Amino acid sequence: MKSTKMVKRKSKNTKTTKRTRVAKDSRAVYLPPATQAQSQYGTFADSKQAPIHRWFQYPAGFSYRAVEYVLEEYGVAPGKIVYDPFAGTATTLVVCKSRGIESYGVEAHPFVFEVASVKTFWDYTFADLDSLAAKLIFEIQTEIGKAESIDLAQTPELVRKCFSDENLRKLLFIRARIQELEEPYRAFFTVALTCALRQASGAATGWPYIAPKKRIREKDGVQVFSKQAYQMIRDLKTIPAQFRQSPCHLVLGDARHTEFEDEKFDLSFTSPPYLNNYDYADRTRLETYFNGFASTWGDITEKVRSRLIMSATTQINRGDFDSANIISDNLREIAPDLAADLQGNVDKLSRLRLTHGGKKSYDIMVGQYFNDMTLALADNYRVLKPGSKSIWILGDSAPYGVYIPTEEILGRIALGLGFRNYAIQQLRKRGDKWKGNTQRHHVALKESILTLTK
Ligand SMILES: C[S@@+](CC[C@H](N)C(=O)[O-])C[C@H]1O[C@@H](n2cnc3c(N)ncnc32)[C@H](O)[C@@H]1O
Repeated sequence: MKSTKMVKRKSKNTKTTKRTRVAKDSRAVYLPPATQAQSQYGTFADSKQAPIHRWFQYPAGFSYRAVEYVLEEYGVAPGKIVYDPFAGTATTLVVCKSRGIESYGVEAHPFVFEVASVKTFWDYTFADLDSLAAKLIFEIQTEIGKAESIDLAQTPELVRKCFSDENLRKLLFIRARIQELEEPYRAFFTVALTCALRQASGAATGWPYIAPKKRIREKDGVQVFSKQAYQMIRDLKTIPAQFRQSPCHLVLGDARHTEFEDEKFDLSFTSPPYLNNYDYADRTRLETYFNGFASTWGDITEKVRSRLIMSATTQINRGDFDSANIISDNLREIAPDLAADLQGNVDKLSRLRLTHGGKKSYDIMVGQYFNDMTLALADNYRVLKPGSKSIWILGDSAPYGVYIPTEEILGRIALGLGFRNYAIQQLRKRGDKWKGNTQRHHVALKESILTLTK
């Protein structure tokens, strides 16, 4: 098995005596922890500085180096097709495209999809893009005085709190000018402006939270937008001409039910939402509200939250679920023992929530997460070629201190769906930043790579 090769190499490098552990089920194997260099594969740290990847600082994104590593490890070259069912801002697709490898991705969040689409379209005539950028920015600079008359009455409060009125008017003026452009330029400059918002804001809009009351130094919207747009153009120019048109297909859709044909892909590499109460719709509120895509909590629930895999209690309307019977028939059929264990944990969480002030619906979140992930894994199995690998970067979790070994549970579900085996390797420990929080559990958490073989 490929991953064993990786372990041997690691043992030589680090002189570790740790051994691969075979689980009770001989189809499962637990590999020794990854090397220090690989420990950040599940984070966006590497991608923050890398051309194209850096356009939008997506905290849920993973490292482009992880994609490079996997492509090399499994010998994926042009002629093969790679699939990322939870494409996010297209880290997998951007790496594949820059190597001439065809790739497909699915993303359910409309704003994240838009960013990913622009990041994966490189077929510009640079002379046109350069002159358009120069003209647009010149006109904005010379006519910015007109921004003073923009009425802010309809602008959502959250957006108003993130900027001074003067700066917000400038940003809205830029937005209006971009609206006048033709595609693909309109989408390109819209993404440039959207990606500039958090850099310009005077509110501490650092991920994952927006804290409008905490102020930082605000930056001039026109300058930040110009800098972002020019950086994006420079990044595009670093791409060798032969890869600018490499095929890359992104679908705004649902990884649980795709329309790809059976056995289409040679390798799947992805990172799904973690079971950690991270609300993707909330975290991108500034961007979606600014662009007029949504303007209220109810609006983003309908347009974003309700379309995503269950991974946050804010997605739950308790009345819609029966926590005592939450595990789907589908999951019960595929893995009956596991389904019973999971229902046991759900019951424990149903009792525990009554003893906590916030009464969070972690019980439903956990049950429904695995129902959703069973559908996503089943679809993934269907679209992969026999013998190919499906690789998942994941975190475990411990809502109200109840430990949920996500990677192992998904490995077991995968076996029930027909995957031949799975391997788990720890990338890093996580959750340390909450150490001082007395309200929080102290269960050690980690991020891992789960490798499935069809
Ligand atoms: C951990 S992030 C993936 C980040 C990606 N690896 C990157 O580098 O940008 C998980 C993504 O899954 C998306 N998602 C959630 N539910 C989905 C669904 N049902 N189908 C497809 N994508 C979904 C979320 O919007 C989020 O962008």
